[in-house]
Amino acid sequence: MQQRQLGTNGPQVSALGLGCMGMSGMYGPADRVESIATIHAALDAGITLLDTGDFYGMGHNEMLIGEALKGSKRDGALVSVKFGALRDPANGWSGYDARPGAVKNFLAYSLQRLGLDHIDIYRPARLDPNVPIEETIGAIADMVKAGYVRHIGLSEVGSETIKRAAAVHPICDLQIEYSLISRGIEDGILATCRELGIGITAYGVLSRGLISGHWKKENAGAKDFRTFSPRFQAENIDKNLALVEALRKIADAKGVSVAQIAIAWVAAQGKDIVPLIGARQRARLSEALGALDVALTAADLSAIANAVPKGAAAGERYAAVAMAHLDSEGKH
Ligand SMILES: NC(=O)c1ccc[n+]([C@@H]2O[C@H](COP(=O)([O-])OP(=O)(O)OC[C@H]3O[C@@H](n4cnc5c(N)ncnc54)[C@H](OP(=O)(O)O)[C@@H]3O)[C@@H](O)[C@H]2O)c1
Repeated sequence: MQQRQLGTNGPQVSALGLGCMGMSGMYGPADRVESIATIHAALDAGITLLDTGDFYGMGHNEMLIGEALKGSKRDGALVSVKFGALRDPANGWSGYDARPGAVKNFLAYSLQRLGLDHIDIYRPARLDPNVPIEETIGAIADMVKAGYVRHIGLSEVGSETIKRAAAVHPICDLQIEYSLISRGIEDGILATCRELGIGITAYGVLSRGLISGHWKKENAGAKDFRTFSPRFQAENIDKNLALVEALRKIADAKGVSVAQIAIAWVAAQGKDIVPLIGARQRARLSEALGALDVALTAADLSAIANAVPKGAAAGERYAAVAMAHLDSEGKH
């Protein structure tokens, strides 16, 4: 598999990473056996980057990855973990804690659940508005010195926070939503990362399945992330699915799938960008891997730009309450 360098000082990783969130209920029930088979298939195909968060299924996702990585499967796999999001017993979300003491506490539990002696990339999931980023990064840097963490990443923060964090310790990558219909990072954040030698791990490349070519209006109603996502709501879904149909014409003409075009478009935005694929079934993974063979020509890129112009999506990428936590959107 093609490799990409995550930031000036970061690790070499496969050109696509596997995001494991959907394997722990964020997109409805997932099949445990199929999830583990998907992680193994990804590793066998040469994917080396696995992404998780300690709050995905309240530890469920880390335990699943821990099980999948038992034995020789661990060799060569890099695990990226987000921490700091607070959950409640009713599956709710109740804020963020990125205080130095909390960093060490979260890390201790993650290592145990993953069955690992270190985490390859450790990052706060969001900026904790009550804690200066320097303190959070300083605490992770202590854990790097102690050997429990290899590299430090960030997630959904804006340029000012990125600069302040990078002044404390090298940052290997920023994890942030980036897709044909979520292009906010092009307005400054991407340039800041490039200036500072920080890579991008792009998530939501298929906009949570919306632009995968597989999403149907009738799927609405399932109690998952999409129940609350503005882009899936009745008032926006027709407009958004019309964009997908415009994209499908281009995909059909090239003999590839809509998901492959959408993933290939993100990968084509720079060698410093690694799309995270949210597959939880081997068939979806295999489709996503096919994106690596899609070469987009200048004509394709211009057709895509016409089909899905910047800012074309109806609705914001998160519900208002979650948008308020995004330093990357200037909401602090
Ligand atoms: N830093 C952050 O704030 C943040 C936020 C969200 C996610 N993430 C990370 O990024 C990863 C990817 O995000 P995401 O899951 O939202 O991404 P995504 O790829 O935009 O969406 C995944 C959804 O697309 C559907 N899909 C349809 N065709 C697919 C294909 N060929 N390959 C993959 N998925 C396909 C999946 O299908 P099915 O439902 O059919 O399985 C799943 O529901 C997550 O797993 C997580 O690790 C980070």
